[in-house]
Parts: sequence; structure tokens; C-alpha cells
Amino acid sequence: MLKNRIIVFDTTLRDGEQAPGAALTSQQKLEVAYQLEKLGVDVIEAGFPIASPDDFKGVSLVASSIKKSMVCGLARCLKPDIEAVRGSLKKAKRPRIHVFLATSKIHLQYKFKKPENEILELAVNALRLAGKYFDDVEFSPEDATRTDRNFLYRVVEAAIKNGAKTINIPDTVGYSYPQEMYDLISGIRNNVPNINKAVIAVHCHDDLGLATANTLSAVMAGARQVHCTVNGIGERAGNASLEEVIMALKVRRDGLGDYTMRIKTEEIYKTSHLVSTLTGFSIPYNKAVVGKNAFRHESGIHQDAIIKQRDTYEIMDPKDIGVGETELVLGKHSGKHALKKRLKELGVILEDEKLAGVFKEFKELADKKKEIFDDDLIALAQERLKDYKKGYELISIKIVAGTDIVPVANVKVKDGKKILENESTGDGPVDACYRAIDKITRLTPKLVSYKLNAVTRGKDAQGMARVEIRVKNERFSGLGTSTDILEASVKAYLDAINRVKA
Ligand code: KIV
Ligand code: ZN
Repeated sequence: MLKNRIIVFDTTLRDGEQAPGAALTSQQKLEVAYQLEKLGVDVIEAGFPIASPDDFKGVSLVASSIKKSMVCGLARCLKPDIEAVRGSLKKAKRPRIHVFLATSKIHLQYKFKKPENEILELAVNALRLAGKYFDDVEFSPEDATRTDRNFLYRVVEAAIKNGAKTINIPDTVGYSYPQEMYDLISGIRNNVPNINKAVIAVHCHDDLGLATANTLSAVMAGARQVHCTVNGIGERAGNASLEEVIMALKVRRDGLGDYTMRIKTEEIYKTSHLVSTLTGFSIPYNKAVVGKNAFRHESGIHQDAIIKQRDTYEIMDPKDIGVGETELVLGKHSGKHALKKRLKELGVILEDEKLAGVFKEFKELADKKKEIFDDDLIALAQERLKDYKKGYELISIKIVAGTDIVPVANVKVKDGKKILENESTGDGPVDACYRAIDKITRLTPKLVSYKLNAVTRGKDAQGMARVEIRVKNERFSGLGTSTDILEASVKAYLDAINRVKA
């Protein structure tokens, strides 16, 4: 391994997907994975297979489809977890297991109620088992930044001795700051005798807004693998954002160091938008690197200077992250081949029958909407990528609503060959539709969350609704898109219900 090669470990599909409300279906995970591979990430952490059958399925699907990037699954130091990763990565071309165990006093005392030597033993046994199944093993002492240094050194040394090829140092609760992180990584390099046999990685959370800074500090101290997520999504305040870490390393190579990476930065913008569309987490306008305003200049003085010399007020060329090159894609007169090609470029590969369906909807959309953007296409493809076989399909909605009347909705759906119809009043038009659907399906799910976003800009933009419902303590998410927001909302609800049925 080259001394200055940075390995990019993307955990959008694992830590990112742990963000409340960000759940992705297996098919959506695969779409993101294809795009991450195109972006050039070295490792895709695809999930935590023991967590649920859905997670297992998602990791397996990614593992059997991704060829260039390594595919990784997460496991606690428990036999069933390691076996689940083994099962889900069976078809992976380049598999990796990521085993973790908390090592900080607070976790030992309250979570495990175990002393240090027992924790060490748990880690060693798990690593030995993982080593029987995998050549590539990564180990994380969870909450490393709050772990007693001497114990941390002992754990890291034992992990390497027992087969860990990568040692990841997580700042699990986003507690550290750049100087401390620098000292921590330097301390590990100076005090762990076998550290040269492993790559040091870093995994920073953003609770204090320091995840990117801490990651860069770790790199300056000698870490050579960075854990990050697209748009910084993840547990609580999220993880170090991939686009920030990558662009900081690229733009400031003069000061941070001259590193090599496999990342194709021109794919960043597209990746960021895909993740935002699929998770329903919109990108703040002022988000570094990928926010709408990141390359917009409002003040006249700035605009004037930019025209004269771009880098007076721009430290990155927007083209370097893929902004402005491919945003406006297809129009009313585009053919099926152009659509197929563009979808493929976006990482969406559809069978002919599904492509024909998307094409039909694309033409209908082009009649309603002046400009069709990448995100519109992704949203249309989403409808076809729903990975259950049967379900309720919307035929029509009729609504009577107004500011001073109780709304009434009539919903008609198809279930196989059966046509079902019912109506209800509600607290608003969406609620009325959902109650009518509950009467049809005879399910009474609890609506956990409901979100509506515009897919692209403009008054004629498509609305994308995301719902999460709970049925008997299990959660199911649904997605629906349409230029009519009520239709989008109903489609999302039916999508979630179909997942219950599946
Ligand atoms: O934040 C964390 O500590 C983690 C571990 C599983 C690496 O996500
Ligand atoms: Zn984490």
C-alpha cells in the first residue's frame, strides 16, 4: 500500500441509514451502492446483517452486484452477528467484515457490566472467528475517544495480533476535537508495537460539528482510511461528510498533504442528490460542497470579481464535483434509448419491461413539466423498483376539501383483479385518504412519519412523499411521487402497506 494512499470507506448504507427516518429498501440500497462504486469509494459498508432480515437482504444484494468496491458488513463481537455477515457476503467478490466492541469505561460499566480483561477476551475470540471466514477484517473499539488510552493500546495490539488488518478509531459520540484526535492517532502509532501491520482508520460523528475537522486531523496524524457518509447523514447529528472530507483533501493538498484517492470527484454532486432523493433528507442550501448555494454569488461585488477571475471567490471549480454539467437531461422528444442511457449513468439499471413503464411515465411527465431533471428520472424509476411482487395499486382519488368544510376522500385501488373502493372524512385531505385506505385494507397502521419534498425546482416540480408506518411494532417505509402531492401521499401510503403485505 502506498504511504499516501487514502482508503475511502463509505458507511452511508450502514451508519447513514441508521439516521432516524432514512430507511432504504434493498433495491434503493443497491442503487446507492452502484453510484458509490462509480464514485470510486474503496469500501462500501452495506449494512448490519444481524439487525433485521431486511438488512441481511440489502447487504446480500449489494454483495452479489458490486464488483470493484469492497463490500463490508458490520458485526458485534458475537457469533450470530459474524455468521450473519458471513451469510450475507457469500457472493461478494471482495468481502470485508467490520467487527466492533465498546471499550470506554462508561460502556463497560453500564452497557456490558464487564471488566476490561473480559472485554479484551470477547474481542479476541470474535476476531479469531471472523478470521476463519474472512481475509479482510476491520476492528473498531467503539467509543475509542473516551477510552482509557492504555487499555485502548492493549485492545488495538491484541486485535492486530488476532487478525485485524484495519483498526478503526471511532469518535462514536462526536466528543473529540482536532488536536485531541491528532494526539490520539499519534499515541496509537507510538505506543502500539505492531501498529505497522494494520491500516489506521477513523470514524467521526458530528455532534459538535467537528466530524470533518477531526477526520482531517486523524489523516494528518497518520490515519489512512476515512469513514464517511454522503451528505454526512448518520446517527444523531451524522457522520463526517464524504464530500467535505474528499474536497478538503483535494483542495488543500498544499497544507494537509498530497494524498492519492480513487474518488472521481465529478460524481459527488450526483451521488449527493441520489442519496438525498432516496432518503428524503433534503440538502441544506448552505451545505458545504453540495448545497444549492455553495456556488451561488449574491453580492454584486462578488459577482463582478467572479466574472473577472473565478477563484477570487471560489476555491473549487463546480465542474470538479459535477455541478452544472448534466443537470438538465431530457425533454419531451427524447427517446427510450436516451432514457435508458441516462438512467444507467445515474446508476439505475432496469429490465426492459420496467424501462418501458418508466418511459411511458416519463412521456406523461414531460407533458406536465417543462424540464425533466435527473432527480425526476430517479423518482420515476423508484416507482418501478419497488421490490415486492403484489400489492394495492392506486386507480383514483376524489376529494372534496376546503377551508371551512370537513374533507371527504374517496379512494379506488386495484388488488390483483379486484377493484376496491371506500371513503372517509379526516383531519385534512391526506388524513381522509389514509382513513379511506385503512377501510379498504382493514389495516390500521400507525403513521410514524410523513414527509413531502419537491424533487426538483419550479412550480411544476414533482412532489415526493415518504411515509413510515408501524404495524405490530414493525416499521415499514413507503415512497410515492407525482406532480399532484395528494397522489404522491397516497402512493407512499400504499407502498408502505404493500411492504406489510409482502
Ligand atoms: O460510531 C461508531 O462507533 C460506529 C461503530 C460501529 C464503528 O458506528
Ligand atoms: Zn458511527
